[in-house]
Amino acid sequence: MKLTILGGGGFRVPLVYGALLADHGEGRVTEVVLHDPDDRRLRAVSRVLAEQAEDVPDAPVVAATTDLDEALRGAGFVFSAIRVGGLEGRAADERIALAAGVLGQETVGAGGIAYGLRTVPVAVDIARRAARLAPDAWVINFTNPAGLVTEAMARHLGDRVIGICDSPVGLGRRIARVLGADPKHAFVDYVGLNHLGWVRALRVAGRDELPRLLGDPALLGSFEEGRLFGADWLRSLGAIPNEYLHYYYFNRETVRAYQRAERTRGAFLRDQQARFYAEAADPGVSALRAWDRTRAEREATYMAENRESAGAGEREEEDLSGGYEKVALALMRAIARDERATLILNVRNRSTLRVLDADAVVEVPCLVDAGGAHPLAADPLPGHATGLVCAVKDVERQVLSAAESGSRATAVKAFALHPLVDSVNVARRLVDEYAAAHPGLGYLK
Ligand code: G6P
Ligand code: MN
Repeated sequence: MKLTILGGGGFRVPLVYGALLADHGEGRVTEVVLHDPDDRRLRAVSRVLAEQAEDVPDAPVVAATTDLDEALRGAGFVFSAIRVGGLEGRAADERIALAAGVLGQETVGAGGIAYGLRTVPVAVDIARRAARLAPDAWVINFTNPAGLVTEAMARHLGDRVIGICDSPVGLGRRIARVLGADPKHAFVDYVGLNHLGWVRALRVAGRDELPRLLGDPALLGSFEEGRLFGADWLRSLGAIPNEYLHYYYFNRETVRAYQRAERTRGAFLRDQQARFYAEAADPGVSALRAWDRTRAEREATYMAENRESAGAGEREEEDLSGGYEKVALALMRAIARDERATLILNVRNRSTLRVLDADAVVEVPCLVDAGGAHPLAADPLPGHATGLVCAVKDVERQVLSAAESGSRATAVKAFALHPLVDSVNVARRLVDEYAAAHPGLGYLK
């Protein structure tokens, strides 16, 4: 089977390839095609993959191309993990928002809207081509902001596009770990939008173990989200939020921490990755070793400012391998081999959350088989969570509408309606500054 990876010169491709190397089962991926507009990045990543494949006799064959249509033709699965505007673009998203006094983050708040506005037109073009050139392929979207981008693609691909994120899985795994439960046998009742969801229960053999966690301050202090949000707040909520909710519940503190940081996350990664791609081009250097060193540093510094502002300390050893590739592989396997699995994914809502329409992409547990991902029934969210989910979904809809019509006024509306943007004037300023900084926003008139 052929797997096409869009954003094939991207830094996390070796994680996916590493997982493929460990898969020797029937129907496994035998051919990987990397697509990227940047030939230099393709060469660097190809070198890493070649080193990974040494001594693996049945390693999937790897090819690289800068031709999108050629990459898509004949694919069984397409992973889409692109970054429109690159890390320089991410750094500009953060800088401009923080200078205007609001959150600059890749997926949340003003930064996420800016990133969405320039990514949606590109994602839609990919979806249209995939529908034409690989009509039977399953498209797995990793591209952030993942919920919004999946919804944009679903308008052309229907349920053949599925969005993924590793943070709900990581959260479920951590909760299971502190409760001494086997994550394989625990059902994580997680509901929301991508980077905006809550774990309301963790069921083992039908019994909810979460109350035991919420009732024990020592247990609550023993994992990442517990330290980030604090035991008192988690008990007040009666749920464990996704780590990205830290930007909402502690917005003032995170904005300040990001403003004070020497470099934003995007600027840090821009510089770090520039070094990696330069090293990986040097024939005297092991590209794999350079990649692995860079990856370890990236993982150790993930959400560092949030942890620092909350006094949450360092990340735990077990949390340092995100599991990004594991979710993708588990999903691909369940579909390709019709091996039933329950996974938290970004799919169209149907009737899962009654407050949203059927086409709204939500992040919920799904039953996956050869027919795709089917969202499981979920209890409604409490009032405040429903409010946030509805507000943010409406912002996403404004982004989709602005990307389709090219309307600048609609783009202003998207920023202005976001719960973390506190003035219409700030929204106007953001649109002006983002449009000036990003060539990819030239379509806004
Ligand atoms: C988490 C998020 C992803 C994000 C990744 C890397 O896994 O769920 O959406 O892409 O972290 O974040 P970073 O800041 O290292 O790019
Ligand atoms: Mn994510």
